[in-house]
Amino acid sequence: MAHRSMLSEAVDRYLGTVVVHESRVQKRLRAETAELPEAGMQIGADQGVFLAFLARLIGARRAIEVGTFTGYSALAVANVLSPGGHLVCCDVSEKWTSIARRYWAEAGIADRIELRLAPARETLAELLKRDGPGSYDFAFIDADKTGYDAYYEACLELLRANGLIAIDNVLWSGTVADPADKRPDTVALRAITAKIRDDPRVDACLVSIGDGVMLARKR
Ligand SMILES: C[S@@+](CC[C@H](N)C(=O)[O-])C[C@H]1O[C@@H](n2cnc3c(N)ncnc32)[C@H](O)[C@@H]1O
Repeated sequence: MAHRSMLSEAVDRYLGTVVVHESRVQKRLRAETAELPEAGMQIGADQGVFLAFLARLIGARRAIEVGTFTGYSALAVANVLSPGGHLVCCDVSEKWTSIARRYWAEAGIADRIELRLAPARETLAELLKRDGPGSYDFAFIDADKTGYDAYYEACLELLRANGLIAIDNVLWSGTVADPADKRPDTVALRAITAKIRDDPRVDACLVSIGDGVMLARKR
C-alpha cells in the first residue's frame, strides 16, 4: 500500500491491513493501482470505510464524486447507497477510469455509477441543470486542488439540507501548516479549509484521517 497518510508506515499498515477488512475486489483494485506511478492518489482502506460509514449514516441515495482515478472511493460509496442509489463520478482520465469500470462491473455496482469524463466544473454545472438544486445527499471532492472552491460551491448547491460534503487532502501531508509553503495547491487547500470553517451555510469538522478530510454538513 502506498504510504499516503501522516502516520508512520507501520501504523498505516496496521490500519489498512489489520484493522480494516477490504473485500476481495477492493484488495485486487488496490493491488492493480499499486503498480501505477500515481498509486499515492488512491485513498487508504481506512478512509474508504470512513466514507462508506458517512454515506450510510446520512442514508445517502444520490451521491457525487469529483476525482475518481481507478475507482476505489467510488466503489466504497456506491456499495452502501440506499436502494435506487446513484453515484455520479467526475473525472478527465479515460485511462484510469477504465480500470475503475472493470472493478465496478466485477463488484456488481456498475449500474449505480454514472461516469462523466469531462472537467468537473462542466459536469457539475450540467447536473445542476439536469437535476436541480438540493437533489443530492453526499459529495466527495478529491480532484485538482485549485478547483476545490468551485467544486465546493457547486456541490453545496446540488446538496439537500443535511447533506454532507467530504473534501480530501486538506492537510496535504502537513504542508498546510508551513506558512513558507506558498505552492498553489497548498494555498488553495488552506483557503478552502478556512472558508468552510467560517461558512454560515454549513457545520464543519476536520478529521485527520488519511491526508485530512474536511466535512461540511449543509444547514
Ligand atoms: C486523487 S485522484 C482521485 C482518487 C480517488 N478518489 C480514489 O479513491 O482512488 C484525483 C483524480 O482527479 C482527476 N481530475 C483532475 N483534474 C480534474 C478535473 N478538472 N475534473 C475532473 N477530474 C479531474 C484526475 O484525473 C484523478 O483521477
